[in-house]
Amino acid sequence: MIESAFFIDLHCHILPNIDDGAKSMDVSVAMARRYVEAGFGKVVATPHFIKGTAWASPPDTVVALVEQLQHRLDSENIALQVYVGMEIADHPHLLDRVGQGSLLSLAGSKAYLLEPSFQGSQHKLLINIKTLLERGYKVVLAHAERCPAFQKNMAQLLPLVDQGLHIQINASSLLEDADTLCKKTAMSLLESDSVHYLASDAHDLKHRSPPSRGDLEWLEMQLGRESLIRLWATNPAKLLTGE
Ligand SMILES: [Fe+2]
Repeated sequence: MIESAFFIDLHCHILPNIDDGAKSMDVSVAMARRYVEAGFGKVVATPHFIKGTAWASPPDTVVALVEQLQHRLDSENIALQVYVGMEIADHPHLLDRVGQGSLLSLAGSKAYLLEPSFQGSQHKLLINIKTLLERGYKVVLAHAERCPAFQKNMAQLLPLVDQGLHIQINASSLLEDADTLCKKTAMSLLESDSVHYLASDAHDLKHRSPPSRGDLEWLEMQLGRESLIRLWATNPAKLLTGE
């Protein structure tokens, strides 16, 4: 098995009391311990940013929470580096806000993590992604396999992938027992070589928790060691270093 402090999770809700993720700083710390146990050395905290809702904290709030969490982890000798980010839902002023720098990218890179809606056509989101790519930004599409519009028609993503869109899928979609639409879509995306990142999208310690060593061993068996390393270590590392 791959050794410790190797993996990088680009999408998780480890910050406390800011969205539907960790409910306290103690839960955040416990999630961090799980990450370290599984071999992760870095995570990007990506609380939801859904304009017009309670889950739309300004960047300063996210930065301050990451600093508080990092301080706590350092004081308890938990070797996990936490970076700032956001999981941004599409909205009419998305392009303006990105241009103004009023949303957080992933770890200070040029890449923004965008969340598709679970309802309706994603036409407007796809137009915004295309525009962002044309303007020189990087875009990571969060858990594309969970979006019904992409489950029905995955092919609509492929021209954007050719243009530079990076797709992230949730490891939990692959870990599902049944052949769900999520799992089938995730597998189709993998087979078409359109997936750039695996991530946990971890929210808590129970239902959507950080991955375990067992999860990683199962994924290594299913995907192969080389793919697992590329999707959960090498590609995320390139994104963090701006490659
Ligand atoms: Fe998420």
